[in-house]
Amino acid sequence: MISNNKRLINNNWWFKQKEDKEYNEVNLPHTNVELPYNYFDEKSYQIITNYKRDIYVENKEKRVFIQFDGVMTSFNFYVNDKFAGEYKGGYTPKFIEITKLINYGEKNSIYLEVDSSEREDIPPFGHVIDYLTYGGVYRDVYLYEVSQCFIENAFYDYKVSDIKNGHVELTPKVLINNKGEAGEYLLNFTLKHKDNSEEKINFTQVVEVEKASKWYYLEEIPLENIKLWDIENPNLYEVKLELFLGKEAKENCKLDESTETLGFRHLKIEGKGLYINGNKVKIRGLNRHQAFPYSGYAMPARAQRKDAEILKFELGLNTVRSSHYPASPYFLNRCDEIGLLVLEEIPGWQHVSSDEAWRNQVLDDVESMILRDFNHPSIITWGVRINESGDDDELYTKTNDLARRLDASRPTSGIRCYENSHLLEDIYTMNDFIHDGGEQVLRTRKQVTGLDKEVPYLVTEFCGHIFPTKRFDNEERLVEHALRHGRVQSESAKSQEHLGAIGWCAFDYNTHFDFGSGDRICYHGVMDMFRIPKFASYIYSSQKEPSQGVVLGPLTYWTRGERNKGEVFPIYICTNCDSVEVVLEGKTVWIFRRDENTLDNKLSGLKYPPIKIEASSGEWGYSWNEVEFKGFLDNKQVAVKKYSKNPVLKDLSVTIDDKCLKGEEVDTTRVVVKAVDQCENLLPFISGFISVETEGDINVVGPKQVALIGGCIGFWIKTKGKLSNKTAKINIKSSFGIEKTLEVELVK
Ligand code: GAL
Repeated sequence: MISNNKRLINNNWWFKQKEDKEYNEVNLPHTNVELPYNYFDEKSYQIITNYKRDIYVENKEKRVFIQFDGVMTSFNFYVNDKFAGEYKGGYTPKFIEITKLINYGEKNSIYLEVDSSEREDIPPFGHVIDYLTYGGVYRDVYLYEVSQCFIENAFYDYKVSDIKNGHVELTPKVLINNKGEAGEYLLNFTLKHKDNSEEKINFTQVVEVEKASKWYYLEEIPLENIKLWDIENPNLYEVKLELFLGKEAKENCKLDESTETLGFRHLKIEGKGLYINGNKVKIRGLNRHQAFPYSGYAMPARAQRKDAEILKFELGLNTVRSSHYPASPYFLNRCDEIGLLVLEEIPGWQHVSSDEAWRNQVLDDVESMILRDFNHPSIITWGVRINESGDDDELYTKTNDLARRLDASRPTSGIRCYENSHLLEDIYTMNDFIHDGGEQVLRTRKQVTGLDKEVPYLVTEFCGHIFPTKRFDNEERLVEHALRHGRVQSESAKSQEHLGAIGWCAFDYNTHFDFGSGDRICYHGVMDMFRIPKFASYIYSSQKEPSQGVVLGPLTYWTRGERNKGEVFPIYICTNCDSVEVVLEGKTVWIFRRDENTLDNKLSGLKYPPIKIEASSGEWGYSWNEVEFKGFLDNKQVAVKKYSKNPVLKDLSVTIDDKCLKGEEVDTTRVVVKAVDQCENLLPFISGFISVETEGDINVVGPKQVALIGGCIGFWIKTKGKLSNKTAKINIKSSFGIEKTLEVELVK
């Protein structure tokens, strides 16, 4: 639902596991079981739990709805002990009208029985899956009090007819839910750029509204001088839609209002490439699971938004695949705001059931994904196949038809992992794991599709389980992991027939026992579960333009005996600088430019291929010395990375993503603690632990005492949903005797 007449009801819920007698007070988002970091039994959260809360509604004129944005995995819902509705799926919203069950002006109890088991009749279940789905009411819950006639949904469909002059033909479709009088209603649209400009575009239309929940297709509205949305300039508009009874916009006849964010872009995806506003974009992306340590999916807005920021600003990606299900609305909103393209897909993993209910659920998932996310400019395609499932023309003809019927503006895609699959979608999307470190890096389009025609072709996964890499693995493995990502991105960048490549994956994630390293973690990320970078992340981040941040990431720990044979070479320096000067014991011994001597041919397609330093490049490196790598742009030093020859523990570096949190809701931020040496470099093999205590209205998510993993660790703090004090403190003690304190401001 998109009406503005809603309230967030995330606080003051009561929760228990089914067998327990006592309820505990909780705030949402909430995970039913806080899990250990690894080696846990994934059955532990596949349980039945109860959530309850009281609600009050005063105005008898209003219709009342509850909307659950995400509950894992199914639930039965009761109002004042009467059954009110049920839900299956977990990733898309469910709204339920409870008008008839409400006692106006009195206390009403709402109650959920949540089943977080892997029910075989619900995708992605029925076979095995390589991720966890967790449990609980893990996204927001809203209470809507709306008029008899209200705005249930709106698709702001459009066509960009003139890219240069920003001519856009807007054709809104509005879903009006009316239990009041049939008759004439006025829709008043006000469109304005989100940059607070005063300039507003206003248009109205009168609609003959029936007594039903029905879509109305409005007349085309021509717009001029629209600032189009793209990756570099993600221009957003806000459209306010007001619904009035009768033909005039009289305040006392106003029934409802909704505010949506829009971005207008010209999207063309064809065999030759993907074009946004006429400009070719090569997709360079990673897959993202929405999972976090300890609390699984139940992470509030700020953590969701931060993930999008990490992908765009830290890793320099232009695309994310929201594998393998619709992502949090907060994540998608942030993708809109920062210009990160999204491939969104329905839940599922390799398995397609023959069960009718299961198959219908797939169609439901397609529909509810599009109903929720139609207006996001960042979403460029709907994934309408179960990830890596076999051809099932009966089902996938339906999912494609449905997606195209609901949204003719976006191409469909469907992710497979085998050649010669039936192409029912608009884009052939393929998990191409062919690169195992050998010569072949990507298959050709023809080899995969078996088709002679130029179909749009996108690689949606590579690397992953072919080369799992822990952040604390041996340096050579970390380097090879980086190179594999680099080789595939390089090949994709050179290719005229690949729309691009989306690697597996951004962040390590918890999984079932039959996947990953046995400890319930798939170490497939270019970052770990705490979003702390592995070497592979520098391959991506160094592709950013220097204006977006200078990157100088030598893929080395600069130690004498970490690699085989006591070698440190070759050293790949991931950088967007144009040359690197190597300074040993204060003396410049070499300057490496980006030229044929420093180029690894397999990486030459990258805009900023790493500068490769071979042992033969100089006589240095064999007596053990301190080193500095200095990065230059246009002969000006812009970065330096120094390594000690004899690293010792010097400090704990502590960083916090945000210093100001919202106290009255569950807000969160991440703290990263690193043991560092005299050059502020991570000590990757140090062993030790930290313990964290908080003061004020915040809690630590997960255990308060944790071992460093590969020299560092992250944790999140969450606010308690109350604001009794405006500051809170995080006190970190360590087994090294170093203590740190952070202060956080809490605001309304
Ligand atoms: C793919 C799958 C992903 C993940 C990946 C690991 O086959 O689609 O979900 O399991 O393998 O590399």
